[in-house]
Amino acid sequence: MFKYYEEQIKVILSTAKRILVNAGAGTAKTTVLGCYAIKQAVELIRHRITWAAGNAKVLLISLTNKAADEAREAIEKWVNDKNVQLLVGSNGDEQAIVDRIVCSTIHSFAFQQLRQYAKGKDFSGFVVDNECNEQILDDILEDIKPGWRDDLSIKAALLDTNHMHIKDAEEIADVIRNKYPQYARHTKTFIENLQSLEQKKREDNIITYDDMVHRFFKLLHNRKIREQIGRKFPVIIVDEFQDTGSLQWRVIKKMVGPKSKLLCAGDDGQTIFSWAGASFYRFRHFMKQYHSCERPVLKINRRSTEPIVTLSNLLIGQSAFAIKKEITAKKEGKKVQVIYNPNRLERYEYIRVQIERLLKEGIRYEDMAVLYRSYQDLQDFKDFLAESGIPFQIFGDKSKRDRPIIKVVFSLIKIIESSTIQDADWKPVLMVLEHVGKKRVEQIIEWIQTKKPEETVYQKPYQFTEHLQKLIEFVNSMKNSTASNADRLSEIIDYARTLPKVNNSIKEHIRPTLLKHSHKCDSLSGTIDRYLDHSYSLCYPVEDEPPYPDSYLTLSNVHRSKGDEFHTVFYLGTLDHLYEKYGLFKSKKKKESELQLMNVAVTRARRELHLLFPIDKETWENDEDAHNPWRFVRDAYRDSYDTGD
Ligand SMILES: Nc1ncnc2c1ncn2[C@@H]1O[C@H](COP(=O)(O)OP(=O)(O)OP(=O)(O)O)[C@@H](O)[C@H]1O
Ligand SMILES: [Mg+2]
Repeated sequence: MFKYYEEQIKVILSTAKRILVNAGAGTAKTTVLGCYAIKQAVELIRHRITWAAGNAKVLLISLTNKAADEAREAIEKWVNDKNVQLLVGSNGDEQAIVDRIVCSTIHSFAFQQLRQYAKGKDFSGFVVDNECNEQILDDILEDIKPGWRDDLSIKAALLDTNHMHIKDAEEIADVIRNKYPQYARHTKTFIENLQSLEQKKREDNIITYDDMVHRFFKLLHNRKIREQIGRKFPVIIVDEFQDTGSLQWRVIKKMVGPKSKLLCAGDDGQTIFSWAGASFYRFRHFMKQYHSCERPVLKINRRSTEPIVTLSNLLIGQSAFAIKKEITAKKEGKKVQVIYNPNRLERYEYIRVQIERLLKEGIRYEDMAVLYRSYQDLQDFKDFLAESGIPFQIFGDKSKRDRPIIKVVFSLIKIIESSTIQDADWKPVLMVLEHVGKKRVEQIIEWIQTKKPEETVYQKPYQFTEHLQKLIEFVNSMKNSTASNADRLSEIIDYARTLPKVNNSIKEHIRPTLLKHSHKCDSLSGTIDRYLDHSYSLCYPVEDEPPYPDSYLTLSNVHRSKGDEFHTVFYLGTLDHLYEKYGLFKSKKKKESELQLMNVAVTRARRELHLLFPIDKETWENDEDAHNPWRFVRDAYRDSYDTGD
């Protein structure tokens, strides 16, 4: 284990109640937070801090489930480390210390608390994607306002109003007044519809990711519960603070009692989830809220070599929002390679050759990453890797989640695990049965609702289909099965593969990922929660081709590489006209997001960084201002471009 440096020790041993760390990439924020959590756990034990029903705990909030898992693993390792034990004054009972720390995302934490405090303490809702709102709203409109069901613009306004109401806890009437004044006269109907939507979700026991935080926020309005949570978690630590959404920030403020400690750490030069509610001003919000907070600094990048850190400084130097912080590096290293080449295959070939060299030098695939910015690059480069025989794993390709097989497997799980009949669960399964269209699906669901469990034959007047009979038999047999989660899941996947319309799109990739989760969950629906959790499935993505190799290259979008590090990073930049085309430079904030995204990509590299751009050579030579993303790095490397010639 490494020894901690003075600037790190200052944070770890800080006794201040409110601490804010705004420090550059790789300056050991995450590392320091883990050790601070251990220190705080030791203090809770020393002072025997409890609440009504048990020991008080330290809550460490990470951005993704993957990061939370890693934090937990690191803490389990560090409590046994002599340096750490000495530093934090450990009492020697490692397990007691670990038990005092809860590592979680804010969503999982909110969900857990909801479960605990929900009436009857048995809230076991299904977690569904936010898109489910639309399906439920359709049904509601059918009853309340049939004319609106097919009016796409009013429906979009309704859904967006709901989104803003849930995500930012804004009043429905305020959203309409500010954003949709054209619908002001319908305010009452909007409110009625959206209240019904919320009501229906509660009746059906389903919850979306946004709902989790929103409902938890509302729960915290109850003073008794709020104070209890404050006593239960007297220390709250937040990593990647810059990406905390506005409602999440309000939740955190509510949870922090007058006696609690709050440490938030992040880098305002890595705000890459602004589209999901993160704010470039989050650190300023903290300082405004807690004027007298302590603000320790971490100035030395412990991850990367000097040329990489210099490039990051240069990028962030152009920021219109991030607070200035000069970061230094301690490691010497190779200069950053900047390649521009109009030929896509030649750029890819450059990467292949470099990978070959790195392998010869003893660098393993898992210590290399190719980060992409455009979806097209993901598609093309993936094919290139497959042809080159390079094993890889993709991080951040959402499209796979929407494949029919996944929808069908999830629906089957829900049908099998639930005792009541939910139309929404049956629909995707029935839709993939041969010759069964939307109308027929509705009729079948009606029939299922009235049938007795032993009836498997689809009665007249509806035409019986062989698949339907098999489906119902299968569901009944699985409902009675006492096999393990993993075995039942395998059977469900196998069964789904026999359904006519999913057959073509079935890939083995879903199986290993789901099975991996199923071992960790008490119920099959828990597997879905795990798989679908906002970021979890993206961080532990579905594997592509069986049998999957142990060692593989990471192919990731930049967002998913957050917090990670690799010996070598290849960054696939994109043609500037695409940025322009998609309006990514239209506003100051959008441009800032691109700049910060590039900063995240660059700072993932420990030793080698290769930036590749599909820039057009002629344009580059003739037109100084032609290519905007280049603007971020061009001046730093004017003399050292490798043209790939
Ligand atoms: N005292 C130390 N000595 C040596 N290496 C260290 C020390 N502290 C941290 N590191 C290493 O520095 C690297 C970066 O640390 P860490 O991931 O905690 O940084 P971070 O600030 O959280 O980065 P990011 O901004 O990307 O989230 C890690 O490889 C970590 O192991
Ligand atoms: Mg970190």
